[in-house]
Amino acid sequence: MRTGAVKPCPLADQLSGLPDLMVRTGVLLNRLTTLRIGGPADVLVTPQTLEGLATLRAHLTEADETVLVLGNGSNLLVADAGFEGVVVRVSGTLGGMALVEPGVLEIGAGSPWGSILREAARAGWAGLEFGAGIPGTWGGAVATNAGTRAGQTSDVLISVTGVDREGAVRTLPARDLSMAYRECRLPDGFIIASGRVAVEEDDPERVGAAIEELWARRRRDQPDRARSAGCMFKNPPGESAGRLIDQAGLKGATEGGACVSREHGNFLINRNGEATASDVLRLIERIRERVVAVHGVELELEVKLVGVT
Ligand code: EPU
Repeated sequence: MRTGAVKPCPLADQLSGLPDLMVRTGVLLNRLTTLRIGGPADVLVTPQTLEGLATLRAHLTEADETVLVLGNGSNLLVADAGFEGVVVRVSGTLGGMALVEPGVLEIGAGSPWGSILREAARAGWAGLEFGAGIPGTWGGAVATNAGTRAGQTSDVLISVTGVDREGAVRTLPARDLSMAYRECRLPDGFIIASGRVAVEEDDPERVGAAIEELWARRRRDQPDRARSAGCMFKNPPGESAGRLIDQAGLKGATEGGACVSREHGNFLINRNGEATASDVLRLIERIRERVVAVHGVELELEVKLVGVT
């Protein structure tokens, strides 16, 4: 296994010379993923501005680097050996939100859902309540068309602005992204910086109460504070993967430090913080085999595998 030891990195030195970028090497990705699993990234860059992101993107294309875009790391399983490439962390420096015209809200990709919903409730912007319970950032939600049973990102998205492979800032209408259940087709190499959504002005108390009700449901039905990546599998059409896993008798099943949550069958938990990616992968395979045997259904991963071959 590779370690977090700092080694010479000419690319990091080059990137450090570009404007508006925070550059680090050998950062352990287990600190940046909600599953708390994953080895080191060769280079981790946090753009401080849209201009910094654009310069970075162009440079990485020219250098032919493999890129992973990271928000809150809530939908990722990163290999124990880590990621050989450049992690671009889109965080609070590309966050914030503002009403840009009546009924149109622009949200920075690095904004976490918690802040988005707090601000929506304070201002009385209705339309985003469905996101109560999504653990990631806005950019991550757009890229994966994140959602809950109350709705999904594509229901409200008007357009996204970001940088393309060549580093040009572009705005793409949502209708060009072929968004479907947990799917969004961005151009290859595109990194989201912000997105516009349609909202309605409403009573702040009503918006706040709707968000709180959905939060309470999530706390009731799902493991709240456990180390997990949310739902591991997509729901098959018309079904709940969690229910299929539950009915297959797999709640509480373990592989090493990884186990199936007893609260919700589609959540795999890093029990004591010591589970490895290999533990989780073994558990995934066991679940898939059993669900095929019991229900005849092939489960498809929702969580993205990084550095896993
Ligand atoms: N159920 C069981 N056993 C379980 C889990 C669920 O019997 O272990 C039953 C529930 O009782 C309910 C039905 O299955 O009757 C559906 O369960 P739930 O409402 O929890 O919804 P879900 O389809 O399992 C989806 C999303 C979640 C989202 C919830 C709530 C997917 C893969 N999952 O889960 O999203 O939070 O609805 O809106 O679409 C995620 O994508 O990471 C995620 C957590």
